[in-house]
Amino acid sequence: MEVIRTARLILRTWRADDAPAFYRLNADPRVTEFLPGALTMEEVEAFIVFQQGLFARTGGCYFALEVESTRELAGFVGLKRHELDSPVRLPFAPCSDIGWRLAAPHWGKGYAIEGARACLNFGFHALGLDEIVSFTVPENRRSRAVMEKLGMREDTAGGFAHPALPPTHPLSRHVLYRLTRADAFKDRPREVG
Ligand SMILES: CC(C)(COP(=O)(O)OP(=O)(O)OC[C@H]1O[C@@H](n2cnc3c(N)ncnc32)[C@H](O)[C@@H]1OP(=O)(O)O)[C@@H](O)C(=O)NCCC(=O)NCCS
Repeated sequence: MEVIRTARLILRTWRADDAPAFYRLNADPRVTEFLPGALTMEEVEAFIVFQQGLFARTGGCYFALEVESTRELAGFVGLKRHELDSPVRLPFAPCSDIGWRLAAPHWGKGYAIEGARACLNFGFHALGLDEIVSFTVPENRRSRAVMEKLGMREDTAGGFAHPALPPTHPLSRHVLYRLTRADAFKDRPREVG
């Protein structure tokens, strides 16, 4: 189901037949440089089922991101709700995070920013969120650049060890960025709605 359309992108819910393209995307070491690693086909299928359930429960998910002109699956951009009782409990839950993962040939085209701006608008308005957070490992400059271009601010006291990883894992330490609804739209009142 299509949920959001931008100038160049379609953000939609996941289909079971997205699995092979998403598997290939995650098999690329450029994509997983700052992630725990490639996903097995079982993990890809579980990811798709999880996102479908998350959308049904919360109205948002990491949306499948299609390039409108080719209908190619370029990756995902979207919103993930974390509750206090989520299986992986973040220290600042409950919260909603914005996240992204694109196939490397689609980097540098502005798709992450374009999709993420639409997701922030969707989160703050359609879902009524008051705040959206984002996090990554300190070394992931590309991801932090997206956060900063979106106007998110680092919560320097909010750095944390990701609860899904052992504390000694090289990717354990994460930086945290935040954006409130008020800050997101304070300079752009005419874009509201
Ligand atoms: C993080 C990630 C999504 C960023 O992708 P990206 O292509 O750098 O980000 P964007 O699509 O927003 O592109 C921004 C760049 O495209 C350029 N660009 C090209 N055309 C553009 C356009 N029409 N509009 C805006 N920007 C454009 C921008 O100038 C910018 O380049 P810059 O960094 O030199 O300023 C990508 O690197 C990725 O998927 N990484 C692997 C997964 C990952 O680490 N995810 C995050 C885990 S927390």
